[in-house]
Amino acid sequence: MDWDGIGMDWDRLGRDWEGNGIDWPGVGIDWDGLGCTGAHLCPLPGVFICRGREDALVTRNLVPGESVYGEKRISVEDGDSKVEYRAWNPFRSKLAAAILGGIDQIHIQPGAKVLYLGAASGTTVSHVSDIVGLEGLVYAVEFSHRSGRDLINVAKKRTNVIPVIEDARHPHKYRMLIGMVDVIFADVAQPDQTRIVALNAQHFLRRGGHFIISIKANCIDSTAAPEAVFAGEVRRMAAERMRPQEQLTLEPYERDHAVVVGVYRPPPKEK
Ligand SMILES: C[S@@+](CC[C@H](N)C(=O)[O-])C[C@H]1O[C@@H](n2cnc3c(N)ncnc32)[C@H](O)[C@@H]1O
Repeated sequence: MDWDGIGMDWDRLGRDWEGNGIDWPGVGIDWDGLGCTGAHLCPLPGVFICRGREDALVTRNLVPGESVYGEKRISVEDGDSKVEYRAWNPFRSKLAAAILGGIDQIHIQPGAKVLYLGAASGTTVSHVSDIVGLEGLVYAVEFSHRSGRDLINVAKKRTNVIPVIEDARHPHKYRMLIGMVDVIFADVAQPDQTRIVALNAQHFLRRGGHFIISIKANCIDSTAAPEAVFAGEVRRMAAERMRPQEQLTLEPYERDHAVVVGVYRPPPKEK
């Protein structure tokens, strides 16, 4: 297996894979001859690490035999059946970059219902679809018809992806298509992104649900320091009953980007 281009130097990155006190359950796969020594659950449910000559972040392919954007696949025997994983490139996905950067929680997990704003052609959406599995759902909103065509093709093969070709600024236009969700993930790269997430949260995010927002500093203010832009967005979130819990930058994969994870309308603390 040639993992060139997606190989990771884990020691250099934010996440301490070995020393985190977490038991890494192997999935009982023999990767010998494939260049992998095993696929392990990473501390985030539904996300795996293929360990080998070059380690790689992977998700378990919901549609074995199919790549979505030319990514590498690895198929291995698991008893009588086969399990296939797809490489997840952090240079092409901010969510993957956040995971490799050491984010504690993404809340996107098997069985979760996710509203994904800014789905583009479905690159990251496809990995979210792998993670949530057939018990979960991904409502994928994208307003570009060109990207939307690719997204619809992804959804034809992935029954847990519901493409919504609409402007995320107008959630009332797609309210009939979408149920309540556990998580909103937003990567629309718009100056009013926080307001867009807040509007969608009012319609669709359950109380105590979570949001993940990827912020590209120069989309919001190209004249201010990125840290000042991130701090301003965090203040805006707080004003919308969105309580940020974690923030990290996406270096070395993306420059001047941050991801903020938080909880929406947290229930009052019990006395
Ligand atoms: C940075 S790209 C998203 C990349 C994608 N998240 C991925 O990882 O594959 C931003 C996308 O958001 C879409 N977008 C921007 N504003 C939007 C809006 N108001 N409603 C829906 N989609 C929007 C753009 O068309 C573009 O495809």
